[in-house]
Amino acid sequence: MRKPIILITGANGEIGHGLIRSLSQSSQTDKMGLDLDNLDKSIRPHVQESLQGNILDRNLLERINAEFEVSAIYHLAAILSTRGEFSPMTAHDVNVGGTINLLHLAMEQSISRGQPVKFFFPSSIAVYGMNSLDAKNLAGPVSEDEYRHPETIYGCNKLYCENLGIYFSRFYKRLSAVSSHGRVDFRSIRLPGLISTQTLPAGGTSDFAPEMIHRAAQNKPYHCFVRDDSTIPFMTMEDAINAILKLMEAEEDSLSRSVYNVTSFSPSAGEFRDKTLTYFPEAKIDYIINDKRQSIVDSWPAQVDDSKARKDWSWKPKHDFDSAFENYLIPEIKKRYEI
Ligand code: SER
Repeated sequence: MRKPIILITGANGEIGHGLIRSLSQSSQTDKMGLDLDNLDKSIRPHVQESLQGNILDRNLLERINAEFEVSAIYHLAAILSTRGEFSPMTAHDVNVGGTINLLHLAMEQSISRGQPVKFFFPSSIAVYGMNSLDAKNLAGPVSEDEYRHPETIYGCNKLYCENLGIYFSRFYKRLSAVSSHGRVDFRSIRLPGLISTQTLPAGGTSDFAPEMIHRAAQNKPYHCFVRDDSTIPFMTMEDAINAILKLMEAEEDSLSRSVYNVTSFSPSAGEFRDKTLTYFPEAKIDYIINDKRQSIVDSWPAQVDDSKARKDWSWKPKHDFDSAFENYLIPEIKKRYEI
């Protein structure tokens, strides 16, 4: 008999850390963490299986397919937006090639189990491209079907993979005699910039916000790489994990689409700095603008419209800007750095 598991790729990443802990409490099924590196010590107690390997290694995925019965996949592994611009071909290989491999695994598993396999895909505000700062400032909250003109390889990869997921869930091999409709239960959230108290992002472009707070807490100077008026949506990692779990638990009938916006607050970098200074008044935060990274942030919307998530699966963030700092970020970060 194959062993039932939930598979989490990119397990060592920022979302992986938070999600695996929460899944270990909310689900009885064994978890398998897959990552390029050995699984972090802090995650190991929360998984029953850990696997070091590459999502582009089809033999490895074939082995998982043969040995395990996968009921759900959280496919978190990706190369983020700043890093992707240094090696677009690698970003495409990992972000697109990895995703199609995992979708294919989900399809094979569903066929052999005779039941749908749930698939979570973290998409991003990077799928949007606002064209100009004026357009961004005038746009208001952007809904899911607007402005989908990504300007980074990462954004292009995410937008394409959303469509791949929809293809696998609804149209896969549509000309064959047996329908595959519904075998892969694909669900995706376009996440805003995330702020975690436990980890720092690696190679993203929304990194200025989490970096600012973590540096301030460590009493280290920080040079913010975007202008003080730069505004994109953000969310605490706690809210992001809750959103993922809530969407995955939602009844299929209640979902009017496969891909949803979610958001909590959209402060400017300057407002972030001011807020950080109220808790760490000695912090040294100045601006050394990186024009290229700035142009990526300028291409992302200032606000997104998450009314569909609110309506379909009762999404509601726990934190607004003030309570995120007061009740989550500052207390947890102080604990982490033993302040
Ligand atoms: N936070 C990601 C990045 O900055 C966007 O999804 O790349």
